[in-house]
Amino acid sequence: MDDYQRIVEKDIGIFIEEHRRMFGFEPEQVKALKEVMACSLDPGRPHAVGDVCCGLGQISYHLKDFMMESRFTGIDISPEQIGEARRIFDGLGLSDRFEFHVGDIYDLGGFRDAFDVTLCWQTLFVLDGYERPVQELIRATRKGGHVYIISLFNEHDVDIHANIIDYSRPSGRSGLAVKYSTYSLRKFEDFCRRSGIESFDVHDFFIGIDLPRPSHGGIGTYTLRLADGRRIQVSGGHLMNWKIVHMKV
Ligand SMILES: C[S@@+](CC[C@H](N)C(=O)[O-])C[C@H]1O[C@@H](n2cnc3c(N)ncnc32)[C@H](O)[C@@H]1O
Repeated sequence: MDDYQRIVEKDIGIFIEEHRRMFGFEPEQVKALKEVMACSLDPGRPHAVGDVCCGLGQISYHLKDFMMESRFTGIDISPEQIGEARRIFDGLGLSDRFEFHVGDIYDLGGFRDAFDVTLCWQTLFVLDGYERPVQELIRATRKGGHVYIISLFNEHDVDIHANIIDYSRPSGRSGLAVKYSTYSLRKFEDFCRRSGIESFDVHDFFIGIDLPRPSHGGIGTYTLRLADGRRIQVSGGHLMNWKIVHMKV
């Protein structure tokens, strides 16, 4: 078990609460994902969609009308979240289109060539390295299919690893640090291309709304305006350099 899984276990109540809240509004990053998808596939066709590290399936939930002929498979390491996801989607009457499995992004052997579209949303940057997870995402995707990832990347030849200890959470109080890694995009692209993909493109994500500085403790996400009017996200004083990567397999 890596440190991030320990953090999920310690903070499970917070994870479930935060992910549950995301059913109530469409996240800005999902709007951006839809725009990238619309340029790379026909969302109206039936696709098998894999949502790896899905939490409660809150990202896939917001794609259900956009990809109305598609079926979704959510995979997460946390049995508590998978159980809760099944309850939520049963309650919504959506179990015919959504299924959920406990699974590990480091070993997606049960899902070889299973998906036309594979998502890994807001998770790569907290894992211990991207190599194995990216290879597993590619292997889970059928030839001609698509992988969409959102994570933190820079345009330089550097990887940056920050250890974030959030003392407002049980995990932080017990000394556990979540790693926020901002990866060198060039090195990442190089690795993905060597892993046997057909194409690779990147889309900057700049949030479209202002997030005020929160008054409560914790990591405290807010936005700052750049001189050109775009917004950057700051979390715990850390620049969140979000980019959406799209790979054709
Ligand atoms: C930051 S949350 C992101 C959830 C969702 N993708 C989103 O964007 O809202 C990360 C998720 O990854 C899951 N996770 C952590 N390690 C994992 C692993 N090795 N395999 C699969 N899921 C994992 C956690 O349980 C958690 O639900």
